[in-house]
Amino acid sequence: MDNSNALIDEMIAYYRARASEYDQWFLRQGRYDRGERFRQSWFREVAAVERALLALGPHGDILELACGTGIWTRQLAAIATSLTAVDASPEVITLNRQQVDSSHVEYIVADLYEWRPAITYDFVFFGFWLSHVPPERFEAFWELVAQALKPNGRAFFVDSLFNRETSAKDQSEINRSGRVERRLNDGRTFEIVKIFYEPEQLEERLSSLGWQGYVRTTGKFFLYGCVSHEVEARDGFTGELGA
Ligand SMILES: C[S@@+](CC[C@H](N)C(=O)[O-])C[C@H]1O[C@@H](n2cnc3c(N)ncnc32)[C@H](O)[C@@H]1O
Repeated sequence: MDNSNALIDEMIAYYRARASEYDQWFLRQGRYDRGERFRQSWFREVAAVERALLALGPHGDILELACGTGIWTRQLAAIATSLTAVDASPEVITLNRQQVDSSHVEYIVADLYEWRPAITYDFVFFGFWLSHVPPERFEAFWELVAQALKPNGRAFFVDSLFNRETSAKDQSEINRSGRVERRLNDGRTFEIVKIFYEPEQLEERLSSLGWQGYVRTTGKFFLYGCVSHEVEARDGFTGELGA
């Protein structure tokens, strides 16, 4: 039975309240600052994900799920013919719109557990989202991705590896329970879902749901994957990166 509704509401509330401070995590600033050496290796691994993404040559109609403040939207907007960016938080959408400033991004404020795409897309992207999907919603989420893709469409995702130094210094330690307490700069706390996948297991799980492709790591911080749905995979997408 799925009892995750309250948790989903709490996650939406958390990201709404965190909107203006969200980028500090990515930029390794404030409570996330672990020094210059850490920051350099973090951004080396971010660059590896970006290279893997761009090597796939994503183009056409792109859908970004849980787009957040625009860290990935900016890059997707530069290569897409059209980009649809969905997030439950109007606060992050406002920041995203300001930061990306692109006329061909359509923003949709919606709860991804209720939203259904009106059209299909060549490419679906989600960054640091899968780890927040409650296990009991995993399959339904991937059904949404399948529904959103055109034949031959591909999904690309990036997410967190288990690494204790990536969270804020004053936050309770991350663990493998699937739940974690998150603290905002003002001290408010929220309980959220955070699942740290192992690349091989995630690849196997996706394969059992009919997805073909790969899940890899950048080393210490990130995993990323590119998959297409078996039923839809025609004309030679092998799941391999380009040259
Ligand atoms: C960890 S952030 C990732 C943001 C962005 N993809 C990135 O990589 O920076 C998770 C995002 O999911 C959004 N979110 C949380 N619950 C959601 C839901 N039920 N439906 C849609 N978006 C949701 C939050 O507002 C937040 O922007």
